[in-house]
Amino acid sequence: MQSRVVASEEGKSKGLSLGSMRLFVVFIALCVVFSVISIYTIKHFGIKSVVTTMSSTLQPCVEEHGGLEQWIKPPSNLIHNMSDSELLWRASLVPKVKRYPFRRVPKIAFMFLTKGPLPLAPLWERFLKGHQRLFTVYIHPFPSYQAHFPPSSAFYKRQIPSQIAAWGKMSMCDAERRLVANALLDISNEWFILLSESCIPLYKFSTVYNYLLKSKFSFVGAFDDPGPYGRGRYNPNMAPLVDITKWRKGSQWFEVNRKLAVSIVEDTAFYPKFEQYCRPACYVDEHYFPTMLTIQAGGALANRSITWVDWSRGGAHPATFGKSDITKEFFDRVLGDQKCIYNNRNSSVCVLFARKFAPSALEPLLEMVNSKVLDF
Ligand SMILES: *[C@@H]1O[C@H](CO)[C@@H](O)[C@H](O)[C@H]1NC(C)=O
Ligand SMILES: *[C@@H]1O[C@H](CO)[C@@H](O)[C@H](O)[C@H]1NC(C)=O
Ligand SMILES: *[C@@H]1O[C@H](CO)[C@@H](O)[C@H](O)[C@H]1NC(C)=O
Repeated sequence: MQSRVVASEEGKSKGLSLGSMRLFVVFIALCVVFSVISIYTIKHFGIKSVVTTMSSTLQPCVEEHGGLEQWIKPPSNLIHNMSDSELLWRASLVPKVKRYPFRRVPKIAFMFLTKGPLPLAPLWERFLKGHQRLFTVYIHPFPSYQAHFPPSSAFYKRQIPSQIAAWGKMSMCDAERRLVANALLDISNEWFILLSESCIPLYKFSTVYNYLLKSKFSFVGAFDDPGPYGRGRYNPNMAPLVDITKWRKGSQWFEVNRKLAVSIVEDTAFYPKFEQYCRPACYVDEHYFPTMLTIQAGGALANRSITWVDWSRGGAHPATFGKSDITKEFFDRVLGDQKCIYNNRNSSVCVLFARKFAPSALEPLLEMVNSKVLDF
């Protein structure tokens, strides 16, 4: 009906032709028939929704489809059949008007990149409890894995369509982009936190929420390492798009705001270069986002991660902490004596999350919460 209105108006501007006049008469007739049917239906069934149909006949058949709702409602089901390229395209759609014409409560998207189970889920549940309006959860496990959480859980039905991701390969970055893209589909999500099954929160939810929401910078570890594991992995074929002075390294566990999340999903320039020229022993998940974001939005980066990790034991992997490691002294060490720059000021809160924790750490971690060593 709407397209007919448009058609008849176009006709008017060219001087009303006989054809469009006829069309118009048919259209008016349809409207009349429609209102008669509506009134009749109301009399007999009293259906509420018909009332709106009737009132719309007063201003002949304008907008048939819904209002703003359809654009701002998050997907009711996270399972979709979009391909990655369809999903990334969809997720890259951005409104140009800066102010939201509705009440938007910014949320934090916790994005879990996992192999399968989430053994520390009970700790996260404890952390998230009571803050339903302020967060969303997304889980990207191996595709064969099917999570089973009860309906009461924050993790219930939060699994997204996934694909195999291999450490150090582009498929890992693909998985990260897939998580970010799915989370972008909820317009309320303002911060995008990449986590693994071995990550834990270190502060209570409100502290984490305020720290992120008030931050002027996104937290991406990005540093210029002159050694063989840094600049040594740079391939000159990436020039001129990527200059060696802009080559960065950093942990894959990032915390970015919505603007940078869009930068991550919209990239089509850096991706093929990294896919082609950063292959083991160039571990692409340590370089792609830090380097690309440094070039695209360097001034928006804090250049540090807020996920604590312990490399002090040496080797290719950071330390994993199990049951016997979890003590008050351990957290005094992690939480005490922090020094960093936050919003251009000295701060003593520098990390909000920590890794890596083994499943056996769950019980003592919950104990730490009960005894308020971890305050949430
Ligand atoms: C995706 O789902 C829609 C609706 O369920 C269906 O019409 C469409 O054919 C599906 N596309 C693919 C590629 O499976
Ligand atoms: C992070 O590094 C970039 C250059 O790589 C710089 O432009 C930016 O100011 C740094 N961010 C902060 C908060 O210092
Ligand atoms: C941060 O603290 C150091 C001393 O620890 C001081 O030299 C520096 O000026 C401070 N920076 C800011 C931005 O306050």
